[in-house]
Amino acid sequence: MSAHKNLLKRHQQVIPNWVALNYAEPIQIVDGKGSFVTDGEGNQYLDCFGGILTTMTGYGVPEIVEAIQRQAEKMIHTSTLYLNEPMIELAEKIVGLTEIENAKVFFTTSGTEATDTALLLATLYRNSNEVLAMRSSYHGRSFSAQAVTGTSSWTSTTYSGLSVNFVHGSNRYRSPFIDLDDAAYIEACTNDLRDIINVTTSGNVAALIAEPMLGVGGFDHGPDGLFASFDEVLKETGILFIADEVQTGWGRTGENFWGHQAHGVVPDIMTFAKGVGNGMSVGGVVARAEIMDCLTANSISTFGGNPLCAVGAMANIDYLLEHDLQSNALKMGNLLMNGLNDIANDCDWIGNLRGKGLAIAIEAVKPGTKAPSPEAASKMMEETRERGLLIGKGGTYGNCLRIAPPLSISEDEVGQALSILAESANKVKA
Ligand SMILES: Cc1ncc(COP(=O)(O)O)c(C=O)c1O
Repeated sequence: MSAHKNLLKRHQQVIPNWVALNYAEPIQIVDGKGSFVTDGEGNQYLDCFGGILTTMTGYGVPEIVEAIQRQAEKMIHTSTLYLNEPMIELAEKIVGLTEIENAKVFFTTSGTEATDTALLLATLYRNSNEVLAMRSSYHGRSFSAQAVTGTSSWTSTTYSGLSVNFVHGSNRYRSPFIDLDDAAYIEACTNDLRDIINVTTSGNVAALIAEPMLGVGGFDHGPDGLFASFDEVLKETGILFIADEVQTGWGRTGENFWGHQAHGVVPDIMTFAKGVGNGMSVGGVVARAEIMDCLTANSISTFGGNPLCAVGAMANIDYLLEHDLQSNALKMGNLLMNGLNDIANDCDWIGNLRGKGLAIAIEAVKPGTKAPSPEAASKMMEETRERGLLIGKGGTYGNCLRIAPPLSISEDEVGQALSILAESANKVKA
């Protein structure tokens, strides 16, 4: 039995069935350098998914690895019960990178926990359990994060104590307002938001939580300015706007450092995770002090902001900024999108191509229709893997392919990715 088959057998014995694995024959990734990884059977891949948009500056970046090694030798963990300079420094850095005024940061170990903390703050600050979220969204796997996730294939429960209503706007390709131009689309979605607040809530709503661009939902998004228009309605009654920047933050979209900046809106609360740690377990919430400090009971995070993760995240952000990887994301993203446009023109199974910067999605459909084709998406996953390229999957119907390499990807590597994507797309057609 091959190493991977043997490992899969052991995985199935002790890991829950609902922990989704990619590929008919799942692989273990054991090594990585730059944009490339090696699997447990010695095969090399160009990684255009980065462990779900998390390996942001690349594998084995010496500046980051060495910072982590130095810290690991000194102190890994102390808890939030003690002063922690690496955590404070990281918070200072992040505060300097946001437009949220008088901001404070609370560190978590994941995006899910960041979502949960944002909801805790918003519901207590507003004294309300009513929350609005976007259709086709994904905000995490915990009880509360599941409640605000608007994607049926990623929602296992709606039992939380939150009362949630879902708003139109993010999944434009499958929106009833698809035929409207940008301005009319924004108007229709804003009217829908107002209607939902007036018709289905008590009027005292805590917050709207939204990804500036869908992540798991397949990198679809409303027109720039959508959330500024929403925010005008929210502000009428003091409803908070929570921007989930777990996938869109740190320059991933190329045009902006934070996804919400495309909309011309400053959130009241912002969450982050994934790329900030380049694989170290770092997430967090940024909020104005008056909101962040609204908890009256004590709270701790045993692991959140621990010295090891904080030092790793700091080295990672420094590397990102020093190498201006946001500009690289814009440039390489344009290159990738241009190449994919040519591929899509020749493929009847590609219904929609979209995204921003280095977060690009291909929506697979049954040729000649808009009916989702998860089969074509799965075939594309297998074909690309066979040729040495890792990409991701998502979308409400599991029919969106997601391409999101490290922000450090080079022009040559984009070329390699495109030639594999072109060959594989042709095979899917056949
Ligand atoms: C937008 C968004 N929010 C939250 C989460 C949850 O993050 P985590 O998986 O780190 O708990 C994810 C994960 O994919 C995400 O994409």
